[in-house]
Amino acid sequence: MPTDLHELLRSLRVWDTDLPDFDPDDTPGEPLPLFAAWLARAAAAGQTEPHTMSLATAGADGLPDVRTVMLHGADERGWSFATHTTSRKGRQLADRPYAALGFYWPAQGRQVRVRGPVGKAPAEEGRADLAVRSTGALAAALTGRQSEELGSAAELARASEAAWERARREPDAPVPSWTLYHLRPDEVEFFQGDARRRHVRLVYLRDGGTWRKRLLWP
Ligand SMILES: Cc1cc2nc3c(=O)[nH]c(=O)nc-3n(C[C@H](O)[C@H](O)[C@H](O)COP(=O)(O)O)c2cc1C
Repeated sequence: MPTDLHELLRSLRVWDTDLPDFDPDDTPGEPLPLFAAWLARAAAAGQTEPHTMSLATAGADGLPDVRTVMLHGADERGWSFATHTTSRKGRQLADRPYAALGFYWPAQGRQVRVRGPVGKAPAEEGRADLAVRSTGALAAALTGRQSEELGSAAELARASEAAWERARREPDAPVPSWTLYHLRPDEVEFFQGDARRRHVRLVYLRDGGTWRKRLLWP
């Protein structure tokens, strides 16, 4: 294994495996069924954590930001994720309710990009979403103070211990800042990597009540 960073980077490969074919002519008229099929195939192909995605937002200053979050659902309301309204991303979404999502499933050389306006789900929907998740998810949400400066690991350990204890005792404990968001896509792009670099890019563009499909140069 090379130790020099640049040597290491040059030694690493992408699309160096058998990749599936993707025929953009054989795709549905809207992006959601294709996304659901690709996600299911990524999971079936052994892709680890295919339901995690990059969430890009911008602050009031217009500067970009990005982090990983879990996908909680995708349906006619949009692609859903949950977080604290008080976190950095929560504050950015309050200032600019618009975001982009990025999925990468290297097991199949596939990438999906989603862009659009973001809205908050009603509070009861967010509560129901949290209620069906694990005790750990509730404990993490109850720990709170996401994105604030942390004084010490001991401080976190104390707060987390109390949150776990409460999550076990009170499985429907309310977490007012924990919010489910829906991103309603204006644009969804499907990218299929190809060993010869003839990657296929199919983008769906919302056009009123329907979708237009376009190919893009890779
Ligand atoms: C695999 C993975 C999944 C994550 N899922 C979530 C999530 O669903 N919601 C969330 O608020 N943070 C999640 N995080 C933590 C975020 O990446 C981030 O650290 C946190 O939300 C604070 O981001 P912010 O300071 O930009 O608001 C996840 C991190 C990883 C690595």
